[in-house]
Formats: sequence, structure tokens, C-alpha cells
Amino acid sequence: MTVRPIRIFGDPGLRMVTETVTSFDRELAALVADMTETMYAAPGVGLAANQVGVGLRVFVYDVGDGPSHIVNPVLETSEPLYDEDEGCLSVPGLSFPTVRSEHATVTGADLHGEPVAFSGSGLLARCFQHEVGHLQGRLYLDELQGPTAREAKRAVRTSEWFTASPAMTQLTEDQFRTWYS
Ligand code: NI
Repeated sequence: MTVRPIRIFGDPGLRMVTETVTSFDRELAALVADMTETMYAAPGVGLAANQVGVGLRVFVYDVGDGPSHIVNPVLETSEPLYDEDEGCLSVPGLSFPTVRSEHATVTGADLHGEPVAFSGSGLLARCFQHEVGHLQGRLYLDELQGPTAREAKRAVRTSEWFTASPAMTQLTEDQFRTWYS
């Protein structure tokens, strides 16, 4: 198992809509193992494949009940909605209150292609919504609205990882808006 570098805000991979997995092979098993190790090393409670630059519909998670993963997840959510601080390994050091559904279910497959379904509430439901968002090229920042969204944009621009990265500071205003509008 290998810890893979996590892509940070601004990386095009985070905006890709990932593809359905069709080969349940050794490469997929290695990806899931590496992603799990990468998530623990970070540490985080969830990690989507495009966060390590792989454009496949896979995420791993552990909200305290042990490691799990799902391939080709389809998300279903149910109300009520609630607000709680959310963060992301690809947006280091920041967290903002994000509205999510209290309950969520993901159905998909395990790394052998066997059907699986997981349901959860609270943090687990939030994790499912966050990770499926990644696989659709979204970040939790995109879910923010109003003053919180404006505060998040300011925080991103002034964060250490943003201002220290030549790639980021060379993003023009238009590119920034295109990437994160
Ligand atoms: Ni994330």
C-alpha cells in the first residue's frame, strides 16, 4: 500500500466527473488499498478517487466504524436538512457550516463487483454526500450560500496553501471564477 499525494484546490482533477468502474481487477483493489492508507495518513474520514488523481467512481471512508469503500456509488438522501461544519482534505485547514441531508444511502459495488448498500445518519450521511459530490466534480465549498460562501472564498484566497502556491497565484481572476464560481 502506498500513500498517494492528495490533490489540492485548483487541481483540474477535482473538477472532473469521474467514470463508472467496469474492471473489478487487481488495479482497483490496489487503488482502494492506497486510498485507505492515504485517508488514514492525512488523516481524514473520507477520500474520493479523483482526490488522488484517478478519474473513477470510488470512495473510501471511515467515520469511526472501520474502513469501508464503495465503487460506482449512487446516492439517495432524505430530509431533514441540517447545518454542520464540514472540511475537506483538498481544501486544507478550512471548515464551514454546510447544509446536508440528515440521512443518506449509497448503493454500488465492492471492489469485487458484489452489490453493496450503506445507510447512515449524521456524520456518515454527510460523508456520503461529500464524497459523491467529489466524484461529480464538486467540492463542499460549492454547496455554501450567501455570507458563508463569500467568507469561504476569502478564506481560500488568503489561506497559506493558496498564497504559497505559484500555480494558484498565477490563476487569473477569470480562471479562479471558472474553477470556483
Ligand atoms: Ni473532500
